[in-house]
Amino acid sequence: QQLDMELAQIEKGGFDHFMLKEIFDQPGSLTDCLRGRLDMENLTLTLAGVEEHMSVFSQAKRIIIVACGTSWHAGLVAEYMIETLCRIPVEVEYASEFRYRNPVVGEGDVLIAISQSGETADTLVAIEKAKEAGAFIFGVVNAVGSSIARLSHSGAYTHAGPEIGVASTKAFTAQLTVLAMMAIKIGREKKTVTEAEYNRYLAELALIPEKVKAVLETHESIKEVAKHYADARDFLFLGRGYNFPVALEGALKLKEISYIHAEGYPAAEMKHGPIALVDENLPVLFIATKDAYYEKIVSNIQEIKARKGMVIAVISEGDTLIRGMADHVMVVPEVDELLAPLVSVIPTQILSYYIGVLRGLDVDKPRNLAKSVTVE
Ligand code: G6P
Repeated sequence: QQLDMELAQIEKGGFDHFMLKEIFDQPGSLTDCLRGRLDMENLTLTLAGVEEHMSVFSQAKRIIIVACGTSWHAGLVAEYMIETLCRIPVEVEYASEFRYRNPVVGEGDVLIAISQSGETADTLVAIEKAKEAGAFIFGVVNAVGSSIARLSHSGAYTHAGPEIGVASTKAFTAQLTVLAMMAIKIGREKKTVTEAEYNRYLAELALIPEKVKAVLETHESIKEVAKHYADARDFLFLGRGYNFPVALEGALKLKEISYIHAEGYPAAEMKHGPIALVDENLPVLFIATKDAYYEKIVSNIQEIKARKGMVIAVISEGDTLIRGMADHVMVVPEVDELLAPLVSVIPTQILSYYIGVLRGLDVDKPRNLAKSVTVE
């Protein structure tokens, strides 16, 4: 037992918890994910599993993404990426719903299954059903040699390394990276991405690990923010566009780790319900980085402030407007909006972590949750 404890301590690499270690692993895990794929000297992107089946992707009538939990949120981001860059319709499904509702799926469809563990029972069965119906199955998986990896026709590993903390962090950003590379690659093949755009995306991708590192360096100031909200009873997370799934993921992370009730919503939808909850006791966290939706999100923030809600905002460097409106801000470097979730999610991971720790909870093993859900 003593030995086990010492081993665990060594594995945590000097961090108090696996979750914190894994959050801080991200510049490295993202570099690993890009290694051998993104080549900035020759301006190429290599994804063997996509290239070998390029015609399947470029001719796909639609793409269906199935996943659960955090991986499902990565799927939602991918929907925006693939529809924008490849002009292929994308549907994102909870694996548990897909498997039971006699879905319309068959030849010509591509099904992308996203899974950290590669063992999630619902995702596994969803794949089996779609495969039987004639769909092409592509796995985006972290665990090498896992069941989902073996069942897929093709795939791409996320190479995030083992993730021990039950709440997913580095696996999520690696999934986003693989999915972005896929969208860029397929879009280039279909010519829905121009050469100039392609080169720009590659350059942006190459900078991501550094930008994530820059966010991690602000962790002390995020810890200060956490102190103000550790006693909250409820939390609302809002975002638009590429940052809408980040709002969902931020809310999921907070509820998993802190047991605070948290909801994620597309910011414009708040008028249709959640705004009724807003009062001086409700923290509302906006993912409000500089993108095409910026002006819209500014007015959403005004709507919350007008109702005396507390506003925390994830903002881009240099943004003084929202900084002036919000009660607290967490700052991230500017990134092309397609890749923004890769950096805008980081402050929400750190905030959840510190709130969980301040509440004295076991952040690595939250109650009732399992790392890998192999039963339905
Ligand atoms: C569990 C984990 C989550 C994970 C989900 C899907 O609920 O606690 O962190 O996102 O399963 O797991 P998968 O391994 O398929 O990505």
